[in-house]
Order: sequence, then C-alpha cells, then structure tokens
Amino acid sequence: MSETFVAPPGYGGLESDVAWDPQRHLALQAPERVTLLGEWGPDAAGPSALSPVAITSAFRLLSDEGVVVLQAICGELEQYSVGDERIAKKVRGSIYRSEFLRGMYEDASVLALLRELAQAPLEPHPVSHHAIHINYAPDDLARNVDQWHRDVISFDYVLMVSDPRPMRGGRFEYFLGPVEEGRELLESGAGLPPERVASPDFPGPGWAVLQQGHRVLHRAARLEERYPRITIVGSYWTPLPELDDPTDLPTIVRVDGPEIALVEWSRFQACVAAHRLEHFAATKTDFARPTRELQEELRAIAARLEAAADAFDDPEEGRLIYFDDGK
Ligand SMILES: [Fe+2]
Repeated sequence: MSETFVAPPGYGGLESDVAWDPQRHLALQAPERVTLLGEWGPDAAGPSALSPVAITSAFRLLSDEGVVVLQAICGELEQYSVGDERIAKKVRGSIYRSEFLRGMYEDASVLALLRELAQAPLEPHPVSHHAIHINYAPDDLARNVDQWHRDVISFDYVLMVSDPRPMRGGRFEYFLGPVEEGRELLESGAGLPPERVASPDFPGPGWAVLQQGHRVLHRAARLEERYPRITIVGSYWTPLPELDDPTDLPTIVRVDGPEIALVEWSRFQACVAAHRLEHFAATKTDFARPTRELQEELRAIAARLEAAADAFDDPEEGRLIYFDDGK
C-alpha cells in the first residue's frame, strides 16, 4: 500500500538525510537458517501464529555505504529520543522524517526477501510509527536496552546500526519456547533457563534478524560497559483473510500518544477492512453460500470500522506489554 507522506506536526526533515538508492545502500543476503516455531514445541505457534516461522539467523541488509548513512541519520535522530519504563531511549515515526529510512523500509527487494523468509504476505505497516523504531543505549547501564517482551506487531527485523563487534553485553536474546511459558517462568521468579536462551551472532553493522515478534519472547540485554548501541526495529503488517494481525490500539496510544495513535489506527483499520472486503467480494459472494453468512461477515467488518471511529471520542486506556524478570 502507499502511505501518506504528510508528517505529524513538528516532524521536520534531517540534515543527514539522503535519498535511498538500493544500488549503493543495499547488500541483501539470505540468512543461513530459519527457525520454525514448531522446533520450540507444539505450543509455540499457538492459535495466533501467522506462519510457521519463528526467527532467522542474521542476514546482511545494508552495504557499508548504507551503514554510514544510517549511522549518521540515527545519530541526528537521537535528539528526539524519549524513554518509558520498558525502553530507556527510543525514537519512533522516523519514516516521516527521512527519505532514506522510508526507502529502505519499503524497498521492493527487501520486502520480497522478508516475505519469503516469513512465509507470509508482509506489507509496510499502516501504523507508520511502528514502521521504523530506533533503540539507543540507556544512560543507566543497569537497565536492559529493552525488557523481555513479545511484540505487538506480526513480523519485524532487528538491525544492528552500530558495530556489534566491540560491544560488551547489549545482546539481542530470545527464549526457545512459547511466549506464554517464558512469561510464566519470568513472573514466577524462576527465570529463563540459560540453555533455553539464544542470541544471534551479528557479523557487523547493517545485519539483521527477522522474527515473528508477537510469538517470540525476546529482549535486548543491558550493556556491560558503556557503548553507543543503536538498533532499528522495522515492523510489518501481515494481512491475512482469516487471521488477525496482532497490532493493537492501547500500545500505540501509550507509546505515541492519542493524537498520533488515532490517526494511524484509523489508517490501519481502513487497510484491514479494505483487504477483508476485497477477499470477501472475490471469494465469498457466491450464490451457494447462506445469505446469513454474508450478512454476518459484512457486519463483522463494519463493526471494526465503527469501533475505530468510536475510538476518536474515547480511546482505550494505553498499556505496554513487557514481563519483569526482577533484574
Ligand atoms: Fe521487540
């Protein structure tokens, strides 16, 4: 889908921005391995998985020249960073500010590789504040870069912007099991058994892993010494006719504020409804089907749009999803 280019008030451009040029900035390479949810036991997929895929090993996305540009952009964006109790320092919504980030995010060959790896029809996310999220190193070294959590989007890549090789600590980690089991272990105080926590090796900046983030329990651990760690999380929407994408309103109300969240939520719900209606028109409106079914399905789609419209008057209470391990 094509997204609106009108930025929210106050979202100016960047001095370090350049136009995205895949010839110069892209160096795509497929990962060596794709881990499936089924490898983590029968419950890892759960009823909400959108494909069998859990997470890939690291794959190269950016060229050396692309990394230099991205590091400059992320350096300039740091002045806009904010924190909350889950993530100490982050910047969202930067595809409104940067042509480079928008181009990288929507690049056709990147999307094609991500779709192949995910085994799902990924699309650029209509919630543009989810599209590119940047995490920075916390000023307080005792804090994790990001707590254990599952994502509230379908698939996302975590890309090393800074060079991971000299970094001590600050590793991206994930639990080799169902989100629900990991959550119970964390909340019971037992913690995650170290042999069930994995951490991909990133050979350098510009490398990424792709995960089905809402079905993978993961975190970015604390740094063991001060280091300017920067990662980008690029998140995508998965439109499927029979399964819901996990994107939710309470998270974006809390993280981005209602003024941003409600506009982007209306964009998302419009895209979801359009996709569902296209599918309905093409596959369900035959004369053999009971008319009651057609009526119910139309009403279900309309009800979601009504709820999105109602949210402008009364947005839901915001909330963040993360699981405290007491450390
Ligand atoms: Fe995440």
